[in-house]
Amino acid sequence: MDIDRKARAELKRQEPKILWFTGLSAAGKSTIANLVDARLHALGKHTYLLDGDNIRLGLNRDLGYSDADRVENIRRIAEVAGLMADAGLIVLVAFISPFRRERGMARKLVGPGEFVEIFVDTPIAVAEARDPKGLYKKARAGQLKEFTGIDSPYETPENPEIRIDTTRTSAEDAAEQIVSFLKLPG
Ligand code: ADX
Repeated sequence: MDIDRKARAELKRQEPKILWFTGLSAAGKSTIANLVDARLHALGKHTYLLDGDNIRLGLNRDLGYSDADRVENIRRIAEVAGLMADAGLIVLVAFISPFRRERGMARKLVGPGEFVEIFVDTPIAVAEARDPKGLYKKARAGQLKEFTGIDSPYETPENPEIRIDTTRTSAEDAAEQIVSFLKLPG
């Protein structure tokens, strides 16, 4: 290919990034990612947000929530995010992504400094109290198997670039913190 990733990013006047939001169901990943996306867009940045609504209903609609399916879910998402970063975009990725190994694989698809792991840290009791879709309730009642944090594991990030304690930080403040971390020029 004659046009390389540097040329594509330069035309957009930005450095490609993958902003990888990880955390429990109902932790607040999508809410914060949407706010970051809106701020970056307002700053004239070229972005794209990958989340359950556009991936699990389309590309990954053949996948469920077994460990193997989650691994494959994240593998495909990481590949898509890598291609989008190659195209020069700032890609926001908001999935539980429960396994360290797969998050580490995603990190390796882009250059140093281009992968920003954001741990949306919400204790399970808080996520469960929110329960916007009633899924925790179903899982506790045994009507939903392999639910993250209940009978399916969540491996906490060890060295995320950013950790958001959602019990102390509002979604707006979290978004502000993430955008400042990017140190965007001008
Ligand atoms: S991941 O583990 O493969 O990264 P993903 O982020 O795509 O998960 O999907 C999680 C969302 O799917 C949850 O927020 C919830 O709305 C829904 N969901 C349905 N079943 C489950 C389950 N067994 N465990 C977790 N989330 C589930």
